[in-house]
Amino acid sequence: MQRKALIAANWKMNGSAALVTDMTTALTPLPLDNVDVLVCPPATLLNRFSAERNFALGAQTLSQESRGAFTGELSAELLLEAGATYVIVGHSERRTLNFETDALVAAKLATAVTAGLIPILCIGESLAERQQEKTQQVLARQLDAVYASQPELLAKSVVAYEPIWAIGTGESATPEQAQQTHAFIRQHLAQYDAQAAVGVKLLYGGSVNADNCAALFQQADIDGALVGGASLKPAEFAQICLAVTKGAKD
Ligand code: PGA
Repeated sequence: MQRKALIAANWKMNGSAALVTDMTTALTPLPLDNVDVLVCPPATLLNRFSAERNFALGAQTLSQESRGAFTGELSAELLLEAGATYVIVGHSERRTLNFETDALVAAKLATAVTAGLIPILCIGESLAERQQEKTQQVLARQLDAVYASQPELLAKSVVAYEPIWAIGTGESATPEQAQQTHAFIRQHLAQYDAQAAVGVKLLYGGSVNADNCAALFQQADIDGALVGGASLKPAEFAQICLAVTKGAKD
């Protein structure tokens, strides 16, 4: 099964109007026919991107509610209006710093799909959990929380495996470690919807850069990347987008 690659930039609480221009300039000349490219800037910058671009936009989170008295929150509808077509859901920083529970992540993902946004569900284990050999248990719990009661959402999702110990540390998972975990994730997802599990894009995230990305993209179950730090450097991010097209698998 051929899955089209997806490379997503997660700017987190970084960037500026100048970076919007620089990123657009870096990506526009690239031949991006064989890869979907996505930039998730802070929501205030979504409107700054021109409609004439060869990449999609996404948000970094959304409210599980659709409107009302939720000061500071942004609904799926508002994000769509600002130009987003994707949204990151359940990033480990939000799970930790904003106390997002598995149940809340499940509700947000359902809200995103209902509104027509493509959710990128982030899952991943901590260093302690990996050392205690609980990686599969943690990932299964995070996936079950979302898909066990709403398996129909899998066909509309992207899933990103982001080991917490690899995020922002400069220490990426090895291609073999990442492939092994991605294979487990795909196999686990098959119990909700076997066909959707074959088609779902699985991204790897955690210290992806221009040097380590090609070996990751060669792995059978890695369909692209969710890139943090390196996505703030337009030339390096452009290189990562091109690397995935070069390593096209059959
Ligand atoms: P990183 O971040 O590439 O800086 O490790 C990835 C992420 O948090 O999505």
